[in-house]
Amino acid sequence: MAYRRFLSAVGRRRQRPYLRRQTEEVQSDQAVIPLNAGLAHPALFPYRTATLRLQDGRQVELGEEIMQEVQQYSNTTGYPPFRDWCKNFILEHHSPPCWGRGENATDVIVTNGAAEAAFKVLEMCLETDDTIIVQNPTYASAIDLVQALGAKPVGVPGDGRGLSPLHLRETLSKWTPDEVKDPNSDFPKLMYLVPTGGNPTGENMTLERKQEIYAIAKEFDLLILEDDPYYFVQYTDSRVPSFLSIDTDGRVMRADSFSKTVSPGLRLGILSGPAPLVDKIVAHIGSTQEHSSNLSQVALLMALEAWGQDGFQEHVKKIQSVYKEQRDAMQSSAEKWLSGLAEWDLPEAGIYFWIRIKDVQDSRKIVEEVRKHYQIGVSPGFAFSTKPSDPSPFVRVSFSYVAPDTIDFAFQKLADVIRETQKTERREYGT
Ligand SMILES: Cc1ncc(COP(=O)(O)O)c(C=O)c1O
Repeated sequence: MAYRRFLSAVGRRRQRPYLRRQTEEVQSDQAVIPLNAGLAHPALFPYRTATLRLQDGRQVELGEEIMQEVQQYSNTTGYPPFRDWCKNFILEHHSPPCWGRGENATDVIVTNGAAEAAFKVLEMCLETDDTIIVQNPTYASAIDLVQALGAKPVGVPGDGRGLSPLHLRETLSKWTPDEVKDPNSDFPKLMYLVPTGGNPTGENMTLERKQEIYAIAKEFDLLILEDDPYYFVQYTDSRVPSFLSIDTDGRVMRADSFSKTVSPGLRLGILSGPAPLVDKIVAHIGSTQEHSSNLSQVALLMALEAWGQDGFQEHVKKIQSVYKEQRDAMQSSAEKWLSGLAEWDLPEAGIYFWIRIKDVQDSRKIVEEVRKHYQIGVSPGFAFSTKPSDPSPFVRVSFSYVAPDTIDFAFQKLADVIRETQKTERREYGT
């Protein structure tokens, strides 16, 4: 594939900084005297060793050598042993068809979470007046960034299984066949998708759905940005394969996250995709933040190595089981308090319920009232919309953090506020 047409003017100009590449090369060769780089003197580092105690009681020791390495500058693509772990992880879980396939082969780098991975891709591709296909509603931060870049999110509705291919075709047919082929038209270059446990809708795409969407992306030559932090938070017996795993062309950029499987505060994720595009992101990271925190990468690597492959799978199972219990608790409370007042689907993945409140035009007042009277935070639907000025009767609530009895209390109060608001709207609008 040729990638130039997918890049913004800034994206095209980005090059991996010469000096950073030279520093990384020199640093990796012990035989070279590194007068080229502004490395810190190791005698001045404050930390000598560290011990990390894992939840299961085991201890992981970071000796003097590794602590010195951690406190020094490292590679933009990731702390090498951790990046190797990430490469194996992507290969094992997604077997990308383009792996090892020439100059467009799948490459893998470490990022500060899925957010950095996904959002640097948006920045690489979009500029003023460009358009991008997103499911409407979708992850609010993605919409915010697209709008800040001056680009236009083109919302396509979902149908309970994520973005609907039918509506996608309908949306794309608004451009004439000539515009579709014209690189200077505003025909979309890419699609931003949250395929697993969609945020905010909780929808989980099936493999057939992903194949249908991939076929459309192929037909119209679109890139797919797969933002997939909830991949390991699926409550079904087997995980639905990713877009990356069916990407025979090299048109998928995938963002993984360790926030949902390990810890959001470590700020670690993975970006995988065709090497020429990943290279542009390395150039961006290299000239802005240099690289992700070594200490985070090493701390995570140590835990992952202590667990081993089986231990990681066990850990993921535990996460699924804890979040599934939380989800089921929220479902019980929703049935108990919100039946008749609202509608929702039980999410098969992710950490959110997307609740449509009946007989109200917009959820904003409800969100304000539960906060004001009961100190309860819920997210209003408009915030996830490509047209936030339109009213939305939805609210998004998360079941990942709050204890079941507190969820129950919150839903009881939410129900009271919904009833009051419905009454007021009936009086005002006669609905
Ligand atoms: C769809 C989506 N993308 C990205 C993120 C951010 O993930 P990370 O913490 O890995 O940056 C989130 C977190 O809520 C999310 O829901």
